[in-house]
Amino acid sequence: MADPPDLPDPPDLRDLAAPAELPASAGLPSPAELDAADPLRAFQDRFRPLPPGLINLDGNSLGQLPADTPVRIAHLLEREWGERLIRAWEERWTELPLQVGDRLGEHLLGAAPRTTVIADSTTVCFYKLAAAALQVRPDRPEIITDSSNFPTDRYVLEGLAAAHGRRITWIEPDPQAGPTPDQVADVISDRTALVTLSHVDYRSAHIADLERITATAHDAGALVLWDLSHSAGALPVGLDDHHVDLAVGCTYKYLNGGPGAPAFLYVREALQAGLRQPIWGWWGRRDRFGMAAGYDAAPGLTGMLSGTPPVLGLTASAAGIDLSIEAGIDAIRAKSTRLTEYAIALTDARLASHGVDVGSPRDPDRRGSHVALVHPRARDLARQLIDREVLVDFREPDVIRLGLSPLTTSFTHVHDALERLHDILTGTHGPSSTIAPAP
Ligand SMILES: Cc1ncc(COP(=O)(O)O)c(C=O)c1O
Repeated sequence: MADPPDLPDPPDLRDLAAPAELPASAGLPSPAELDAADPLRAFQDRFRPLPPGLINLDGNSLGQLPADTPVRIAHLLEREWGERLIRAWEERWTELPLQVGDRLGEHLLGAAPRTTVIADSTTVCFYKLAAAALQVRPDRPEIITDSSNFPTDRYVLEGLAAAHGRRITWIEPDPQAGPTPDQVADVISDRTALVTLSHVDYRSAHIADLERITATAHDAGALVLWDLSHSAGALPVGLDDHHVDLAVGCTYKYLNGGPGAPAFLYVREALQAGLRQPIWGWWGRRDRFGMAAGYDAAPGLTGMLSGTPPVLGLTASAAGIDLSIEAGIDAIRAKSTRLTEYAIALTDARLASHGVDVGSPRDPDRRGSHVALVHPRARDLARQLIDREVLVDFREPDVIRLGLSPLTTSFTHVHDALERLHDILTGTHGPSSTIAPAP
């Protein structure tokens, strides 16, 4: 990509007071000003345009369609599957899980080559790594996680605990934050096999202290498994630097890999030789085409695979991952912080007096790339926002989540979405947006 043009310094939102009830832009920089100063703004044109009037603040659930994805998929279908047929496995497809994993790991997760691979769904990757971790801590009966962790993680752990005679110790975090290192330290012991948490809380966006919690787990002799679903492509993670053991995450959220795109898993290099995942399929076997009797795990991360890689999904994941790599994770994080800061400033200025609270950490260093708005009628408000062409989601019991995906969300989107929420709360019917409503 060409060097970005010189841009004016972005205004500092933190210096601005948050008056109770003022027109949207009073006291705050205009969204146009913020967009003009956004070094990543050109990336919006690298995605398929949305229908007029639609604002997508749900890229933390399902990222948008990169313009390159249909091109790559068409090439895969027509030239590779269509013309090369089974030869394409040897020519390109077999290497995809590790190749795409390496790019994701190196540029976006801080992971050395051959420690990240694309495989299966996040749920299955999580199951494989949690089971592998328990197997190498056979005499330790406890698993630590938190009660507000993402449901699939909790359910998989319950299943593993039931199947392997282990017990889950549940941390109860502050719902508007997340589990803290002290909470982990309070319950960990030499009976703990595994500590597993989400890096960014799916409701509050709280960023757990990955470095300290990992160190606390290691001090007690436990392994640590992080769910990076809401971090990957949104903020730097530093997996190797922080000596993380195991990690998993989605590629369909901030990485824009598409619906049901395959997940990734990470295993620290030093652990790979001693870990055995539980789904012994032929793709994880040494010399898979030998078709010999008995399972013999392939060395390295290949041994973490089970069945045939999902080449269509992997191709779409790679297109999204490449866009994030091109933008750079530090630039992505910088924009993410500014977007969430702006959403919070507007909420304070325009919505607080109508009963909307910010349910995400106010400290930007502890906040991921979405903002939780708390209101007793959140479910109904989220529905009305969707009816007004603002895609958000509702999370039990009272949270509207605004996912601010740095490659696709503009400051104008944030401003206009919150103005539509203001209109709903005050019973007015706009348009106070700068984006024309959908016809
Ligand atoms: C933190 C977290 N983990 C896991 C998942 C889901 O994984 P899967 O792709 O297996 O449905 C999600 C989905 O939103 C998630 O937010």
